[in-house]
Amino acid sequence: MKMFKTIATALALCAAFSVQARTIDAIKQDGKIVIATEGQFAPFNYFEGTKLTGFEVEVAEAVVKKMGLKLEWKTLGFDALLTGLPQDRWDAVIASHGVNEERSKAVTFGEPHYCSGGIIVSIDGKTRTGADLAGKVVAVQTGTSYLEQVKKVAGVKDVKNFPQDTDAQRALISKRVDAWVSDKFVAKEAATKNPKAGFKMGDMLFIEHIAPAFAKGNTGLAQAWNKAFDQILADGTYAAISKKYFNEDVRCT
Ligand code: ARG
Repeated sequence: MKMFKTIATALALCAAFSVQARTIDAIKQDGKIVIATEGQFAPFNYFEGTKLTGFEVEVAEAVVKKMGLKLEWKTLGFDALLTGLPQDRWDAVIASHGVNEERSKAVTFGEPHYCSGGIIVSIDGKTRTGADLAGKVVAVQTGTSYLEQVKKVAGVKDVKNFPQDTDAQRALISKRVDAWVSDKFVAKEAATKNPKAGFKMGDMLFIEHIAPAFAKGNTGLAQAWNKAFDQILADGTYAAISKKYFNEDVRCT
């Protein structure tokens, strides 16, 4: 019985530790931080050939350099990103997550690395405002704030959700939906890259603060990240990356 108890305690301890996020000290000792992103959300995180790049990828790389660490990227579906944090599968997520109450219950957010919001995109040019969405079919990416916000709009006929934002975009191009709601910078980029699609920008449906996420309660790591992030805000590194991608400074003010 005693033996059984000891084993049970050991197992419980193992379980407790395996769900423990890596502390900043453990990460420092290892010399490397593991960050997960999606890689399908241009211009924030995307692939150029086989190379992961984008605004927030470069911001993360600059932050991690200031922290004196190496960076290992993991890329996977948007929906799986935050759930990997309590499982200790990676140390941080940077994938354009808007800070909201529900997510804040599950993860610890760092300082926002940009401010943006959801914009209504159509091809007919008539679906411009929240009110215009009544009776319409709207495409959004699964698990996003766009889905949550569109659901709140009165009278929307149907919200179709897609595993990738690019699929939601394609649904609009092929006119299977009346509108696509996505990040305003993502939509702008899509319109520039694909002028033939004839995207028309409508109103912003909402605005949000976009931040990196850490395992809930991993404040040591969040603080170390924020400190390095403040340094790149102050020394011009952030401004240069922002100018390169947007020709403007997208920091939250
Ligand atoms: N900003 C939106 C949200 O907070 C969408 C993020 C989508 N990110 C991505 N990597 N596809 O949910």
